[in-house]
Amino acid sequence: MFSRQLSDDIAISLSIPQFADELFALTDRNRAFLKQWLPWLDGTTSAKDTRSFLMHQLGLFARGEGLHVTIFYKGAIAGVAGFNSIDRANGIAYVGYWLGNEYTGKGIMTVVVRDLITIARDFCGAQRVDIRCATGNKRSRAIPERLGFTHEGTLRRAERLYGAWVDHEVYALLLDSEARPAATQVV
Ligand SMILES: CC(C)(COP(=O)(O)OP(=O)(O)OC[C@H]1O[C@@H](n2cnc3c(N)ncnc32)[C@H](O)[C@@H]1OP(=O)(O)O)[C@@H](O)C(=O)NCCC(=O)NCCS
Repeated sequence: MFSRQLSDDIAISLSIPQFADELFALTDRNRAFLKQWLPWLDGTTSAKDTRSFLMHQLGLFARGEGLHVTIFYKGAIAGVAGFNSIDRANGIAYVGYWLGNEYTGKGIMTVVVRDLITIARDFCGAQRVDIRCATGNKRSRAIPERLGFTHEGTLRRAERLYGAWVDHEVYALLLDSEARPAATQVV
């Protein structure tokens, strides 16, 4: 199984259906928090839904079209992140992420997204990492801003969130294949 230890407390693992019960429990107790910015909560009402989603994600990974990782903080599932899609023809990795509210404010996602950049470059052949955040989602926008992404512009009415349109801010980092970081251990 692909997993990476990112600090003493933070690790990521390729998401597998066996994580479904714990991941659904995290989702369920953070339902109101996550609904502020994520559109899929009403369609995730049981661990069975989470298991089906994780199986679908494994299929995308097997085809090189996506990557879904589960984030562990001190051994407990804290959230997820990854590439919602990988455009292999153009070498673009589209990043998505969420944390349980009790795991925010610790810098976890910034560490994880920094590692996703390495994965995009070293394992996915990406030349561009793309992050799109709703305009009002300041905590999400702070992640690409902290990591040196360029703000490229605003997509108007990019997403319908529970009946209301939101604009998306587009952030991107272009990867210089000449400047490879030190290899990170893959267990
Ligand atoms: C978006 C989301 C993951 C951001 O969480 P976050 O905790 O703010 O992000 P990080 O884990 O990178 O932590 C950064 C915070 O930890 C603090 N921090 C502590 N130690 C840190 C460190 N070593 N490095 C960076 N930040 C650190 C930062 O100051 C910041 O807190 P602040 O906003 O109070 O200044 C989270 O709010 C979330 O899941 N929201 C709901 C779902 C969502 O919006 N998903 C994204 C859709 S585009």
